Amino acid sequence: MTSSDQPTSTALVTGASRGFGRGIASALHAAGAPVVAVARNAELLASLRDELGGTLTTVVADAADPVVAGRLIEQYRPGTLVLNAGAPPLMRPIQHQSWQAFSRNWDIDVQQAFHWIREALLLPLSPGSTVVTMSSGAAVAGSPLSGGYAGAKATIRFITAYAGEESDRAGLGIRFVSLLPKLTPATELGSMAVAAYADRAGVDAAEFGERLGPGLTPDDVGKAVAELVGSGEHAAGAYMLTPAGLSVAG
Ligand SMILES: NC(=O)c1ccc[n+]([C@@H]2O[C@H](COP(=O)([O-])OP(=O)(O)OC[C@H]3O[C@@H](n4cnc5c(N)ncnc54)[C@H](OP(=O)(O)O)[C@@H]3O)[C@@H](O)[C@H]2O)c1
Repeated sequence: MTSSDQPTSTALVTGASRGFGRGIASALHAAGAPVVAVARNAELLASLRDELGGTLTTVVADAADPVVAGRLIEQYRPGTLVLNAGAPPLMRPIQHQSWQAFSRNWDIDVQQAFHWIREALLLPLSPGSTVVTMSSGAAVAGSPLSGGYAGAKATIRFITAYAGEESDRAGLGIRFVSLLPKLTPATELGSMAVAAYADRAGVDAAEFGERLGPGLTPDDVGKAVAELVGSGEHAAGAYMLTPAGLSVAG
């Protein structure tokens, strides 16, 4: 495909009310796709719809609910499915986590990926569809202040790869891709993490941000996902995402 072959099948984005998901929904909309934006905050979804000129379908729902996954996949049969929704972890060292806090990202992020991926394979989505899951650079580097977050994100990378294998074995033609973005203070979740690591290092968040180097913005993430979906140049697999762009994850 060339860059003129923009996605025209429906794109469904979870966690589209703010942060990366909002950037992804906006970029896919700009690329010409009918977009379905899913999140729990109705006001933020409505403001995104207004921002995009009213041509956005919004669904107020919990993306980790298996009934929501089954219903929306059947209703919209997206050609592009972006499983971006993620819970902010409790930013504390391991001994200050409860089991419930530690497992938050398993209950939300992993559960979401599991339900939607399963539905995508079972329906199945059409050949040529792309499923993008949001893992994290933490899946490789670890994240000692966020409980089970890094392990949950590593599991998302694993199950995305397992699904790719099942798609190949059954000849479904669904491309499964996981993204591992670098930590950035540009979103609510990222700014909480940067503040916690800055505090641990005994510096302020601005200085810690400088040590991290250039940070991804929601626009950067949106453009990267739109390019990944539209250009067809990226095979199934896992990709690191930094302000320099996408690169195959080791
Ligand atoms: N920021 C970073 O540095 C970074 C780095 C690597 C990976 N990531 C990952 O990227 C994804 C987006 O993060 P972000 O930084 O953009 O975070 P954010 O600004 O906190 O946004 C999170 C989004 O997820 C939605 N969400 C959370 N739980 C949900 C649920 N149960 N059902 C539906 N929507 C839900 C939120 O919407 P509602 O509250 O309206 O439901 C919101 O739109 C997450 O998976 C995160 O782990 C972030």
